[in-house]
Formats: sequence, structure tokens, C-alpha cells
Amino acid sequence: MSRSYLGDDCLQYLKQRQSFLWLNPNYQNRSSAPLKPDESRLYEASERLLRLAPLLKTLFGELESSGGIIESTLTYIKALNQAIDSPPGDLFLKNDHQLPVAGSIKARGGIYEVLCFAERLALENGIIENIDDDYNKLADSHARELFSRYRIIVGSTGNLGLSIGLISSALGFSVTVHMSVDAKEWKKQRLRENGVNVVEHANEYSNAVAAGREQASRDPFAYFIDDENSPLLFMGYAVAALRLKNQLEEAGRKVDEQHPLFVYLPAGVGGAPGGITFGLKAIFGANAHCFWAEPVESPCCLMGLATAASDSLPSVSQLQLTNRTDADGLAVGCASHWVCNAVRDGVSGVYTATDDELYQKLKQLHDLAQTDVEPSAAISLLGPKLLSSPTGVRYCDEHQLSEYMSNATHIAWLTGGALVPDDEYSNYLSLAEKFTK
Ligand SMILES: Cc1ncc(COP(=O)(O)O)c(C=O)c1O
Repeated sequence: MSRSYLGDDCLQYLKQRQSFLWLNPNYQNRSSAPLKPDESRLYEASERLLRLAPLLKTLFGELESSGGIIESTLTYIKALNQAIDSPPGDLFLKNDHQLPVAGSIKARGGIYEVLCFAERLALENGIIENIDDDYNKLADSHARELFSRYRIIVGSTGNLGLSIGLISSALGFSVTVHMSVDAKEWKKQRLRENGVNVVEHANEYSNAVAAGREQASRDPFAYFIDDENSPLLFMGYAVAALRLKNQLEEAGRKVDEQHPLFVYLPAGVGGAPGGITFGLKAIFGANAHCFWAEPVESPCCLMGLATAASDSLPSVSQLQLTNRTDADGLAVGCASHWVCNAVRDGVSGVYTATDDELYQKLKQLHDLAQTDVEPSAAISLLGPKLLSSPTGVRYCDEHQLSEYMSNATHIAWLTGGALVPDDEYSNYLSLAEKFTK
């Protein structure tokens, strides 16, 4: 039996599928995070992405103008700020739904890990002499021939598979993506069009990951990207924090004791929000407040962060929750133990939301910000309002933030959507209209 820090009230909210804000009792308790990743890895990852930018520019025409850097904008939308019933401060959107190549936050971690593997193979096999060599050699025929001998394998709810499939096939790797039952048809189709082998599973995400892990264990030329347990994916996401620091400076936003930063991050298995939380805490320390967001049927990170570090993590099925949600990217039944142990002291709290609530936010983004995202991303927009709830106010009081809230920067992290086909998005909007009536 796992030891849990969840109180009776929280358990009731979870079991009743009632949306609520949970404050993490281990926040700022350093001893609760037994696995503190080395901060130097964050800077190492950032440098690696700079080295590999010329290669990415060669592989993907859409990266021409950014010189091979995959990054999204940070925007302030006045109409949204006026409409959102939130605590004081300014709300910004972090537009990862528009990240080039893969159209989701998964372009950060997924592409980074495949690049790490390609760089390692290229160095070991003399395609490049050292890290100062010309990285465009990784796109030539010798490199492609080398990469084609290896198979990249991953399990996914959709977007991670999309990012890994697209970068792997562009480099010439064989690639197999094990898709969970939640994965959308268009994501599978897009991968197949790019030569990716897609294996469809009739059950949830953890089964798809297990199938990938098992396939890889039988193949000496396989490289398994383990979404449940990957420091490399994590660091790829973490680099976002360094880039965000520059964007905040450019936007004239201070972050310090009197100018708190609140970030709202959709969470599936925990890798993407975990990496970004790690990066933000490394840069801004106690002045960055990271709240994660999960569907009421899939609160696995909340349950994972609320579990003692040495215990195995519970599945949402233990609370009779179904893990069924239209937020397909967040449909994960059991969080990453590795990620929970790495950031248990860094996450301020987790809030849950019903699908109705996130569809309302999807529509609000469409109407007021002309921003079209997938349901998983829309959940981030519910964050600011939760800070005005009694629990949110308690958090602000406990951390001596209340008097500085008018200086606060809130960031809703929009994690996916640019590649959603028009007819699929129209369906989302129709559903949203139903819920907002
Ligand atoms: C759109 C979107 N947002 C957020 C996430 C959550 O990322 P993670 O599973 O690493 O927590 C995912 C995961 O696939 C996603 O597709």
C-alpha cells in the first residue's frame, strides 16, 4: 500500500470527480525530492539544441527563419485578460501549440532525445569528429545509412509519438510508435504518411509504453524512449524555462519576490510539466509558482506527487476513475515515478477540471484570442481562476504573495493544437458550444 499525503477532503473531491485545487504539502521540502537532477544538465541541453539547430534547419524548411530553433511566442491578449475572472496581475499565453515541426509541447522533449541519440551515434561512428564539427553531416547519406540500422521505439497517447516519429523519420531512423487507445486517428495517419510504423493498442497509455519497452528489449538495434522514465525528455522540456526567461525580459516582466510568476501546466505522465517546473525553479527559485492541471478522470500526477517518494505510485483506477477524457494527451493512469521524485518539492499544487470546463476555455481562447488549441491545452486557462478560490488565497497568504498579486505574471501554457485538422477542431467547437449554453 502506498503512503499518501492526501487528506480526506481531497480524496472525496477526487472520487466524486469534482474539480478542485490541491496544494502540495511537500512544496519547498527539499528532502521530499530524493532525485534532484543536476542543474548543469539544463544548460548542457540548451547548448546541444544550439549545436543541432543548423541540422534542424536543413531537415525542416519551416525552421529556416528561426535558424533551426524550435520555439514558441509568449503573448498578451487584452480581451482575454478582461474576460477572465482571475486574481490581479497579467495573463500571458505560452504558445507551444504552435511549436514548429510537431505542433505541441512534445516537440521539446521528443525531438531533443532523438537528437541526443543521433549525435551519440554520429560521434561513435565518426560521422562527426567532435561537437565543433559540421552537424549538417548528420543529414548526409552516410549518416542516414547508419541511422537506418536503428529503430526508435516509443509509447504515446499521440503527441509524443508524433514528435518522435517525425524527427526520427526525417533523420532516416526506422521508427515504431505504440499508440494508446486515446490517440486520435489523424495523428496516426500523419505518422503513417511519414513512413512511421504505428502499432495501435486497444488499452491505455501504460500498456502502449509497456509494449514498446518489451519490443525494444528483444532488438539490439532498438532505442526505446521511455516516457515514464526519461531524464533526456525531461531536460529537453526544461530548456523552455531558459527561453521563457528571455521572453519575459523582452516583454518587460520582472520576476522577483514582489513580482511572482504563476505558471499553469497541463500534465499527462508528468515529463513535460516536470521538466519545465525544474527549469523554472532552477532559474527563478521561490518566485516561480508552478501549478499542474489534470482532468478529473486522470489525476495521476496529483496522486503521484501526493505519494511518499519510496512508494510505488498508485493508478487512478484505484479510486475507480476511468482515465477517459477528451484531453487525450492527459489521459494517463499512472504518473512517472522518476518525475514525481525529481520535482515533488517544486510543484506548488495541482488542479483538476472536468471536460466541460476545459471545453469552455477552448471556446474562450477561440473567441477572444483567435487561438485554436486541443482540449488538453485548454485546461491551462483554468489556472488563474483557481488562485482566487479559498485554497488559492490560502496559498498566496502562506507564501506572502497576497500584497504583490497585482504585479503577478500568470502564464497559461498552451501545449498542443496547431496540427489538429479543421474538421476535428470544428467538432471541438461544437462540443464547446454545447457546454457553454
Ligand atoms: C497537448 C499535451 N499537453 C500536455 C501533455 C502532457 O505531457 P506529459 O505527458 O509529459 O505530462 C501532453 C502529453 O502528451 C500533450 O499531448
